[in-house]
Parts: sequence; structure tokens; C-alpha cells
Amino acid sequence: MDDPGAPHSRAAVLGHSGLEPHRRAALPGPVDGTWRYQWPAGSRFLAEISDLVPVAGKRVIDLGCGQGRLGRWALQAGAAEVLFADHSAEALDLIPDLPGARRLVHAWGDPLPPCDVLLGGDILYRADHFPALLDSVASALTAPAAKAWLVDPRTHLEPELPHLAAARGLRWDSQRRPASYTLVCVGLLPCETPVV
Ligand SMILES: C[S@@+](CC[C@H](N)C(=O)[O-])C[C@H]1O[C@@H](n2cnc3c(N)ncnc32)[C@H](O)[C@@H]1O
Repeated sequence: MDDPGAPHSRAAVLGHSGLEPHRRAALPGPVDGTWRYQWPAGSRFLAEISDLVPVAGKRVIDLGCGQGRLGRWALQAGAAEVLFADHSAEALDLIPDLPGARRLVHAWGDPLPPCDVLLGGDILYRADHFPALLDSVASALTAPAAKAWLVDPRTHLEPELPHLAAARGLRWDSQRRPASYTLVCVGLLPCETPVV
């Protein structure tokens, strides 16, 4: 049972997210526990992300944020704001109250607000959720130059992913990085990824 008086209780986070009670009840369950770990592709991406993804002054979403490492990096790198989104309220509870940080209890498939940069570390692990996940990504990428950057440790991703993106009007540009992870850039326009 949560202590409703605690500043970072589950109830406080849900309140912070502004989630309506009926939406809270509709969240998929059970919430998996994957937010508890630091996943490898995110770690490898973080080592070179500054050279790849400009975020200064931009609206950023860390989708499936878990512990929020990518979003926290974005705030340190000068993002105007970062929306930490995850279906685990417990994970969001642990995101620090940094200036510019917002939290959202969110299920893949639900729309997101528009952003300039969407970051997704190790969120391509549930093929049954790909259509819903890409619906959410597409909802956030409304500005012509908006991009989603998704990273995964596997060399080969599911072949349906580019088609699911195209069905939503998005390009899917994937490359294997020397640091042993796959970097996917999704957007309305081609991605110009610097070679690092
Ligand atoms: C493998 S973890 C990656 C966490 C973090 N991005 C990282 O790189 O360490 C996957 C994250 O996606 C979240 N997640 C899984 N299924 C989800 C769903 N259907 N809707 C929203 N979030 C989901 C989990 O709670 C978890 O935080």
C-alpha cells in the first residue's frame, strides 16, 4: 500500500502525470520489471550520443524510459524539456525532479505530445507490441525534422519494422554501430547520421 503522504509515492507520480483514473485502470498489466535494469544498447548509445543527437533547446521524449538515463543525458545536454514516459509508475517515481523533467504514465499505443527528439533505449523487444509502439512514435513525430532514435543490441531486427514505420508515413534508417549496437533513426525525412 502506498503512503499517499510520501512525496514520491506511486499515487503522487500518477497525480503528477495527470493520468485520469479510468486510464490508470486501463494500463496493460502486469507491468514488466525491465525498468529495473540498465540495458546494454542504451549504455553503448550513451557513450557516443553527444556526437549523434542534437538536443539543445529541443523537446525530448524518453520512451520506455526505465531509469531514464537517456532523458537525463538530454537534460544535461541542454534539452528544453524531457518527457519521461513509461508504463511503470514505479520507474517514474525514481526519476529525479530535475528542471525541465516531466513524467507520464504511458502505454505503447497511446498518443504522445509532439517532440523534436524521441529516444528509445532497448524498447524493441516485444514484437507483439510493435504496431502500438510505432503508433505512439508516429504521434510524437509531427514536426518535419522530428526524429526518433531507437537502439537495440541485436545485429538484425525484425524485418517488419520498416514496413510498420512506412505504414505510418515514417522512414526507418537502421545502421550497425562499431560499438556493437543497432541504431535506428525514424522520421519523416532521411536521417543524416554522422559517422563516429
Ligand atoms: C528493456 S527496458 C529499457 C529501459 C530503458 N529505456 C533503458 O534503456 O535502460 C523497457 C522499458 O519499457 C517499458 N515498457 C515495456 N512495455 C511497455 C508498454 N507496453 N508501454 C509502455 N512502456 C513499456 C518498461 O517498463 C521498461 O522501462
